[in-house]
Amino acid sequence: TDIRLFRKHILDWYDHGKRELPWRTLALTEPDIDTRIYAVWVSEIMLQQTQVATVIDYYNKWMKRWPTVHDLAAATLEEVNQMWAGLGYYSRGKRLYEGAQKVVTQLGGEMPRTVESLRHLPGVGRYTAGAVGSIALGEVTGAVDGNVIRVLCRMRAIGADSTGPAVTEALWCTANILVSPERPGDFNQAMMELGARICTPKAPLCTMCPVQSQCHSYRKVLVKQEENATKL
Ligand code: ADE
Repeated sequence: TDIRLFRKHILDWYDHGKRELPWRTLALTEPDIDTRIYAVWVSEIMLQQTQVATVIDYYNKWMKRWPTVHDLAAATLEEVNQMWAGLGYYSRGKRLYEGAQKVVTQLGGEMPRTVESLRHLPGVGRYTAGAVGSIALGEVTGAVDGNVIRVLCRMRAIGADSTGPAVTEALWCTANILVSPERPGDFNQAMMELGARICTPKAPLCTMCPVQSQCHSYRKVLVKQEENATKL
């Protein structure tokens, strides 16, 4: 079907062209579940408002200094802020730190293991919970961030303001249906990567897009071009 083909196209593209990022390697190789969830949580908080290229160095330093949630909980806020210097939006670092303390003092040192319970961590909203749940735990859930909103709106040729609650709800619904049940984390990261590298805000690279044949916006552009050609 269409959905299966969409999943296959985007996952094949991801498998061949994805960037090797430290949190991706870790999510696939770290055997300890708490460390895996912690590591992906740290990466997603850092990536909330900062570009991938900037995050990599900060992430590696952070994980070297505080490799587990227990290590982070034992730090001081001053140390956390120092480590965060340059990343911007300092409240994100503070929330990570507060979250780590909550995990250690209230949850017996075990990271939350469901999308639902991840949302009780400070700074973890619907997107971050979906991303961590799918990437670290293999939960079959969508993860809709700014990049994914753009991809989905173009795929479905939604011209309306994409920030309204009705459109947001519809996009989450679509994302939850589209996500690959076998590889939810890879699928969600493929969607993010498509938005960051191909389906860019300005001048998207449609000729290189793995799901071009399923994109309603692209089809509309083709029709327009044909109409213009026959007019000439
Ligand atoms: N942006 C947010 N999360 C990301 C991830 N896991 N990989 C790449 N870009 C991202």
